[in-house]
Amino acid sequence: MDLNSLIENRYSCRDFSDKSVDRALIGRICAAAALAPSACNSQPWKMHALYGEKKMRVARALQGLGLNAQAEKAPVLLAIEETPARYMSRFDGIVQANEWAAYDIGILTAHILLLAKENGLESCVIGYAADKSAVADALGTKNPVPLFIALGYARESATVPAKKRKPLAEVFSEE
Ligand SMILES: Cc1cc2nc3c(=O)[nH]c(=O)nc-3n(C[C@H](O)[C@H](O)[C@H](O)COP(=O)(O)O)c2cc1C
Repeated sequence: MDLNSLIENRYSCRDFSDKSVDRALIGRICAAAALAPSACNSQPWKMHALYGEKKMRVARALQGLGLNAQAEKAPVLLAIEETPARYMSRFDGIVQANEWAAYDIGILTAHILLLAKENGLESCVIGYAADKSAVADALGTKNPVPLFIALGYARESATVPAKKRKPLAEVFSEE
């Protein structure tokens, strides 16, 4: 698929099949996504690819308010840890550390979603974590873990929701 088609066809999948995912593919997706831009090239992230029991531990910690059952069903869960920004440019020390980390992680995540789609995988970004301390314990970090990405193949019977978006005139202007 070309980039436009990937963007048009990506959706948040909440109905994954049991089909396992090649770990090497996840490694390649994360390696490619790591080329994403970041403020002063700080790369304030660590991508944890979780499988098996560790994935289940984290997946359970994300569930609450009736949300995020898909994290357990997905064969792979990526946890994106926010690491202290170390600027790798001449701006080091001039700009505030981690001021842009949330944007950087958002851009990284977008790269992962589209690379996953290109490789036949569906995805769902998960921001809500009911039990953040259980996530921190499972990953062995004190750093924030702001985003998770459930990855896997959709069940054949999965329904693809229609895109609901604000009218373009509300989100785009020519000036
Ligand atoms: C930062 C972020 C956090 C999100 N958190 C959750 C979540 O906790 N659970 C969930 O089911 N979907 C979550 N989503 C998915 C959004 O609900 C979804 O992207 C949005 O409704 C648009 O639908 P689409 O992705 O199918 O186009 C999140 C998306 C983003 C970008």
